[in-house]
Amino acid sequence: MLITSDVDQAVASLVSSGLCAIPTETVYGLAANALDEVAVARVFVAKGRPQDHPLIVHVSKVADVDLWIRELPSWARTLANKVWPGPLTIVGFRTELASDIVTGGQDTVAVRVPSHPIAGELLTKLHGVGIIGLVAPSANQFGQVSPTSAQHVLDDLGDYLSTHGDLILDGGECAVGLESTIVLATGLQPVILRPGAISALDIQQITGLAVAERTSDSPRVSGALDSHYAPHADVELVTEDRLATVTGPGGFIALAHVPTPNGLTRLIAPTNLAEFARELYAGLRMGDDRNFSKIYVVAPAGEGMAAAINDRLGRAAF
Ligand code: TXA
Ligand code: MG
Repeated sequence: MLITSDVDQAVASLVSSGLCAIPTETVYGLAANALDEVAVARVFVAKGRPQDHPLIVHVSKVADVDLWIRELPSWARTLANKVWPGPLTIVGFRTELASDIVTGGQDTVAVRVPSHPIAGELLTKLHGVGIIGLVAPSANQFGQVSPTSAQHVLDDLGDYLSTHGDLILDGGECAVGLESTIVLATGLQPVILRPGAISALDIQQITGLAVAERTSDSPRVSGALDSHYAPHADVELVTEDRLATVTGPGGFIALAHVPTPNGLTRLIAPTNLAEFARELYAGLRMGDDRNFSKIYVVAPAGEGMAAAINDRLGRAAF
């Protein structure tokens, strides 16, 4: 069986150079031992991901960040201590453990401690047998919508994984549903490279520092490509006041209080922003499953989680 809920089976697979899709609180990741270059190379093949797109190293506890990142600024350590385990990734100057294949040849490396209990159990058990980090990009085909359930991973990567003896570790549906916030920690000030559940305001309040915008000389982030996180259907963003002009057929995604326009099929009806984030990718996938050529989305207004949702929707609609 490709899908398992047995953590020890996942440990065995990763120890013997296998790939294992793992649950995290954000999205499912396609994991390999970060020090096993052959296994890491297979992650790129399975996803169809370009070689120069760097991976995130997942570690079991905050102290392990120093194995991968050197000269972590004190503000970043404060942030890590406060948020980890949790949906935050820190990018800092790499140690010699972080190889070119992991970092895409950059002098920085991305690290995070996930809070999903099964991911935590897996990482702790692996640490006990000498595996001190797992690379885990989102477990989808490159450029597609990230998976938030084991079934999504099976739909996207099942053919590849089953023919190579790999595994999918089932940890249920992801609680956050959007990829982690990525913060660049190579300078005096935090720079957000990818918005997520940990907001700019959270980071400002925890560090006491102003949070800078991403600039063109920041390292590349594949999630920052204009067209990314896209389903097969065309995603069209509509404002509430324009809904009367929309005609079906097509899928519809909006907060529950927004009425479904005539002729459209409601895909999800989240009642708050956390639910919107948690259900968004499943909703986009449902639209594809029903072969809609269009999915209309009313994007939520505001900062924080709304900003993260809008970031992904903007790329899906590009
Ligand atoms: O929530 C998440 O972060 C999920 C779960 C599985 O942990 N992972 C995830 O991985 O979203 P991935 O590979 O789909 O996205 C990682 C992002 C990419 O956009 C990549 O470019 C960026 O992290 N990244 C990795 N290393 C970097 C570095 N050294 N500098 C800048 N960006 C980096
Ligand atoms: Mg991804």
